[in-house]
Amino acid sequence: MDYYERVKINNIINDKISDYDDITVLGWVRTKRVTKNIAFIELNDGSTVHNLQIVVLEPEKHPLEEISNGASIKVEGYLEKVEGREQDIEMKAKKITVIGQAPEDYVLQKKRHTFEFLREIAHLRPRTNTLSVVNRFRSKMSYAVHQFFQERDFHYIHAPIITTGDAEGAGEMFKVTTLDPANPPRDEAGEIDYSQDFFGQETGLTVSGQLQAELLACALGDVYTFGPTFRAENSNTSRHASEFWMIEPEMAFCDLEEMTVLIEDFIKYLFQYALDKAEEEMMFFNKNIDEDRIEVLRDIIKADFAHITYTEAVDILQASGESFEYPVEWGNDLQSEHERYLTEKHFQKPVMVTDYPKKIKAFYMRENDDDKTVRAVDCLVPEVGEIVGGSQREERLEVLKRRMEEENMDLEKYDWFLDIRRYGTVPHSGFGLGFERILMYLSGMGNIRDIIPFPRTPGNAKF
Ligand code: 4AD
Ligand code: MG
Repeated sequence: MDYYERVKINNIINDKISDYDDITVLGWVRTKRVTKNIAFIELNDGSTVHNLQIVVLEPEKHPLEEISNGASIKVEGYLEKVEGREQDIEMKAKKITVIGQAPEDYVLQKKRHTFEFLREIAHLRPRTNTLSVVNRFRSKMSYAVHQFFQERDFHYIHAPIITTGDAEGAGEMFKVTTLDPANPPRDEAGEIDYSQDFFGQETGLTVSGQLQAELLACALGDVYTFGPTFRAENSNTSRHASEFWMIEPEMAFCDLEEMTVLIEDFIKYLFQYALDKAEEEMMFFNKNIDEDRIEVLRDIIKADFAHITYTEAVDILQASGESFEYPVEWGNDLQSEHERYLTEKHFQKPVMVTDYPKKIKAFYMRENDDDKTVRAVDCLVPEVGEIVGGSQREERLEVLKRRMEEENMDLEKYDWFLDIRRYGTVPHSGFGLGFERILMYLSGMGNIRDIIPFPRTPGNAKF
């Protein structure tokens, strides 16, 4: 009954209300202040970070003693404009109904909590300002992702979550099995016999939707995935999660250079979208998380991203005179300290690094004529480091087969992947953008655990 009658507080704050009388709001009490003649309640309903001030003129007529911080209530009354305050509208209560009380041991009282503590109460932290803003921001930026690709006639595809292949070849798959871990069936050699498992073979959670996106791109042209991906890597950093959301576009008839244009357009589009359509959230981040945030975003939108090859990156790092923890040598993967030097100190803007040594990159990347490097691209940004990883794909059947043999892969298992190269093969390219990574960069939030509602990291899967 109340659900359709109530007005959401964001519409009140943004003055989208035509009738100021007979207003009903539903929400949770943030604070309450009672004196003999008047009481004030700050009410939040999750539609905006802003609270609506409820003014109670005859406190003794309302169940104020039942209302404490965290309680859910319904308020009926009327709105009034007030002069000279940041928020120029308040509500005078005629009737207050308590829906659910919150006893005194409710942990979110007025005092500030650290992000570390809030992670331990991840079920309640969406009720704090920062985490509520983060969650609304995720929602808006998800919409931006879809809008960008839909405007460009890309098709949104759903890659499977349960897969048989480790697309990245990094051995970081979580197993999916219904076998009894204490007593799995074994073959003659004593190995676990997965032919008796649920799917009749060994399966795991996907590390990337790319391989399936390639199949669909080679039928539908331009496609993108946007879904959860899983990595069982034991990385305890502020930028790694075991479950994260990735956006993976895949384009047929597209080479690496053409794709880098799309990557830059995509990132800038998201930045512009945040400034235009998530203004409330960006203002919050700018005020409470990093006072330069909006400036940082504007600078990125104006910047021409730098383009260098991996080999040039190595030269720059070796000539830098910096003492890095990990040595810089052609053939080694770039570590995050190297990536940050390139993007933060040397270029001071986003950098696309291309043509990495094939030994450190996945099997599906297109080989260059030098026989040493592949058509890979990583996009590096200040603060976060790698935000995008992608490549032009190897579309030549024989080259791909040789490459997979070099990696000791079971070609038969990937026969379907090779079929795409057998029948009407085309040059194609794709990339993956970590949704949490770009949200971190947009918001200035320093830890991936605070930009996803219920983070999964080594040792943590509660909630
Ligand atoms: O570089 P990655 O591993 O590339 C792929 O998975 C390719 N299959 C993508 C493709 O070409 N379709 O991951 C892509 C991006 C990274 O640049 C990073 O932004 C993010 O995904 N990412 C992570 N984000 C959070 N936690 C982790 N553990 C991440 N691993 C990768
Ligand atoms: Mg990568």
